[in-house]
Amino acid sequence: MPTLNNQRGRVRTIDDRTRPSQPGPARLESLVDPGTFREFGSQARHRVNSFGMAAKRPKGDGVITGSARIDGRPVGVFEQDPRALGGSLGEVHAAKIAAVLDHATRVRVPVVGLLDSGGARIQEGVAALDGYGEIFRRNVMLSGRVPQLSVVLGACAGGAVYSPALTDIVIMRRTGAHMFVTGPKVVRAVTFEDVTLSDLGGAGIHSTASGVAHLVAEDTDDAVDMARSVLSYLPSSCWDDPPVAPPADPEHLPTIPGDHRTAYDVRGVVHGVMDAGSFLELQEAFAANIVIGFARVEGRPVGVVANQPRILAGCLDIAASEKGARFVRLCDAFGLPLVALVDVPGFLPGLGQEAGGIIRKGAKLLYAFAEASVPRVTVVLRKAFGGAYIVMNSKSLGADAVYSWPGAELAVMGAEGAVDVIFRRDLEKDPSRRGELLARYRAEAMAPNLPAERLSVDEVIAPDDTRATIAATLDSLERKAIPRFRHDNLPQ
Ligand code: HXC
Repeated sequence: MPTLNNQRGRVRTIDDRTRPSQPGPARLESLVDPGTFREFGSQARHRVNSFGMAAKRPKGDGVITGSARIDGRPVGVFEQDPRALGGSLGEVHAAKIAAVLDHATRVRVPVVGLLDSGGARIQEGVAALDGYGEIFRRNVMLSGRVPQLSVVLGACAGGAVYSPALTDIVIMRRTGAHMFVTGPKVVRAVTFEDVTLSDLGGAGIHSTASGVAHLVAEDTDDAVDMARSVLSYLPSSCWDDPPVAPPADPEHLPTIPGDHRTAYDVRGVVHGVMDAGSFLELQEAFAANIVIGFARVEGRPVGVVANQPRILAGCLDIAASEKGARFVRLCDAFGLPLVALVDVPGFLPGLGQEAGGIIRKGAKLLYAFAEASVPRVTVVLRKAFGGAYIVMNSKSLGADAVYSWPGAELAVMGAEGAVDVIFRRDLEKDPSRRGELLARYRAEAMAPNLPAERLSVDEVIAPDDTRATIAATLDSLERKAIPRFRHDNLPQ
């Protein structure tokens, strides 16, 4: 089989007519280990004659496919070329991608796709749509079995965005990459909205409002580096163990404010607990009231889920619940222990949240934690109230260990709200008793020792002992019996 030449600019497997310079195989070269790419189907071409297509038969049909290694581990890879029929997906193009997914199924390896495609090839009609169906079905059958990564480098439309949506991680280039189901021209014709490519589907919108993009890269090199980095936390498949890296000491652990209403950035705590430089935050600017990401504890990969008091006071809302849920399921699918850092006042109240379905959407995060069979450790940093306490990997939901920092409060709700309910009549008679009743509620219902007395918390630990406690707990859980294939990673 032909091999990509790893010296940039001297590539033998690509039809020069259709792939003269960038983008092209240099992208694949930079993604995979030098000299490891083996191409599948380099000579494939479509056989369509309608619409003058017989004159446009690029070698490879607009997609380079094959196997390679990343950091020494085997992977399946493909890259679409927008200069060959717009990177559009016809029957042969689809069959080539399907072959990569079949290869990944047989040999149990991750798949990384570099995407740049106008979607279903219009000239091929339903054959192109069926081609997408074949890919989607394989994406779903591989979900939770092998990691699937999508690196979006150009304008991707229609089916070209639904396949990434089925994969585990979507990386988008900050400029030049767009994702939409229907492009600006169709939008203008149907809804009379005048929108630019960026407004409709740029990295800006997908990293903030839609949450489609997990990571935003500055350029192509950065994007492929991110893909390699993501793979460094994940096993080749759910039947393998996650890769272990050399351990590193954490950064300085900051002191967090004692007053519950004072905000701070929980990422300081993450950096102060995890191996230095190991935290790879995902969906950073989307639903920023919850922080998720891969990290390492003494070299071993974990998934971190942390409430972010800086945004919406760290409340859980619809977007945060869905973001957290899919990440918990991703970690569980691939055997990464979960570390929850909890500082949560509750679910975000309000008409918008209720009408938007916080009941069924909040339930997704609850479901994900309850279902997870990987080792699960929780540290309550300052407070955990109400349903959000339960949802955030509580003991009752199946956490293997729950710790709290001194002074952390666990209760059905904060004191202000609670006294209005349980002392309503007393307050109506004499509003000046509010201070006294607040103090009474805090003493009787929120005393920091109560959760540990009734085993909702296993131990109260000093903040400086957090890392060592988490590491020792994960050590003790190393032989936890978990099923190898656990579940898929259904899009949320
Ligand atoms: C056939 C296509 C194509 C397509 C682009 N091309 N998309 N050919 N089928 N889907 C061709 C163009 O005709 C052009 O050919 C070349 O690729 C480059 O396209 P441009 O428009 O010049 O490029 P650009 O300006 O960069 O715009 C890129 C684009 C735009 C935004 C992606 O091409 C576009 O809007 N395409 C249609 C997108 C779309 O609606 N796809 C949905 C398909 S339906 P020449 O010969 O002129 O160079 C679908 C259904 C699946 O995917 C649903 C599954 C759930």
